[in-house]
Amino acid sequence: MLKVSKFGKKIAAVSGIGQLMDDLGNALAENAKSQYGGKYVSMLGGGNPAHIPEVQKHLRRSMVELMEDKDKFERVIGNYDPPQGNKRFIEAVSTLLKNELGWKVKSENIALTNGSQSAFFILFNLFAGTFEDAANKKIVFPLAPEYIGYSDVGLVENLFVANKPHIQHINEHIFKYHIDFSQLKITDEIGAICVSRPTNPTGNVLTDSEIEKLSDLARANNVPLIVDNAYGTPFPNIIFTDAKPIWNENIIVCMSLSKLGLPAARTGIVIANEEIIDMVSQVNAIVSLAPGGIGAAITTNLVSSGQIIRLSRDIIKPFYQKKAADAVEQLSKLLDGIDFHIHKPEGAFFLWLWFRDLPITDAELYQRLKKRGVLVVPGHYFFPGLKEKWRHRHECIRINYAQDKETVSKGLEIIADEVKTAYKAG
Ligand SMILES: Cc1ncc(COP(=O)(O)O)c(C=O)c1O
Repeated sequence: MLKVSKFGKKIAAVSGIGQLMDDLGNALAENAKSQYGGKYVSMLGGGNPAHIPEVQKHLRRSMVELMEDKDKFERVIGNYDPPQGNKRFIEAVSTLLKNELGWKVKSENIALTNGSQSAFFILFNLFAGTFEDAANKKIVFPLAPEYIGYSDVGLVENLFVANKPHIQHINEHIFKYHIDFSQLKITDEIGAICVSRPTNPTGNVLTDSEIEKLSDLARANNVPLIVDNAYGTPFPNIIFTDAKPIWNENIIVCMSLSKLGLPAARTGIVIANEEIIDMVSQVNAIVSLAPGGIGAAITTNLVSSGQIIRLSRDIIKPFYQKKAADAVEQLSKLLDGIDFHIHKPEGAFFLWLWFRDLPITDAELYQRLKKRGVLVVPGHYFFPGLKEKWRHRHECIRINYAQDKETVSKGLEIIADEVKTAYKAG
């Protein structure tokens, strides 16, 4: 067996989530074959955004303009950007954030990364891990469940701690998680606080008061607050509540072009104080010389003209909001008579389903659904850093409702059928 370093063992190990992602990828590749039920596979598992024709039309037009504008295409593909990322795009984003949100952001406060996933890799390992005084610091997730993609980015083991949420039952079948501040302790062990808002996997949007409290706690303890805004305002704006977006010198906001419809362009946007932006740029230089510039090139004009705001507000948000409402309505009918609970969909494009006292685990439910051609993500993967045993984490699944109506609808029918069978068998 090949000998590798501790770092190699940690980063290149086969993880549960890696296998799961393989499953999803293989199913996609095999979509037309029989193993997963051929074309009837309902891919409700991954994090792909929908292909929204109106949005794609604009992206295609931008690409055509890029190709037809003298030597622009050649310049875009033929030169490295600086390690901080494409200057024109950064300038356009900082102006947009100033105008739209009133944030006091300058170009020096923005760096690009190859997808926001790489930004989390950089930031988590900057603010947690082994410090010079030998202290081991951690990132705290104030509210689990949290984004699965954070789980394995630590260069050292046990980089995360997380807290169980407080559960508010809004009605018989709709609930919402809140941060349990009585449990949230920012000790010397904590290097940064991180939340996704809107949250993947639940579609939760932390309230303004929760975010303000977190910001105050972070400042009082001299640690940064990282807000993962991959689905948030001002783009792609997949957020159905009136949440106030905040930024200051102690907050790091991470954004992305992925959920707008450009996941393949791998463009993440980090907004932070200059010291942090300089560090992110330095890491970019070492790890990849420069972030890729294609996403920036395709969207710079959309950002500087403000078109990206109109697309996000008038097309993207209503598109997903309708899909969320349809999925909740269908599920509620299908699951009638069952003790099911759906997290209130306030943003992103996932439904988080909780089957209280389900006689089988989420992992078993996943396997049964896979056999019937439906792929979801078992809930227990979404609790990075939570040490406590908690049955709840084996009673939930995440489904992505961004796919076409038929796919989602067929998938929901099968999910409801399997869940009912499991409850009946006791
Ligand atoms: C909450 C959240 N943050 C970050 C990411 C990473 O996205 P990307 O690296 O494509 O910007 C995702 C992707 O699914 C996500 O759901």
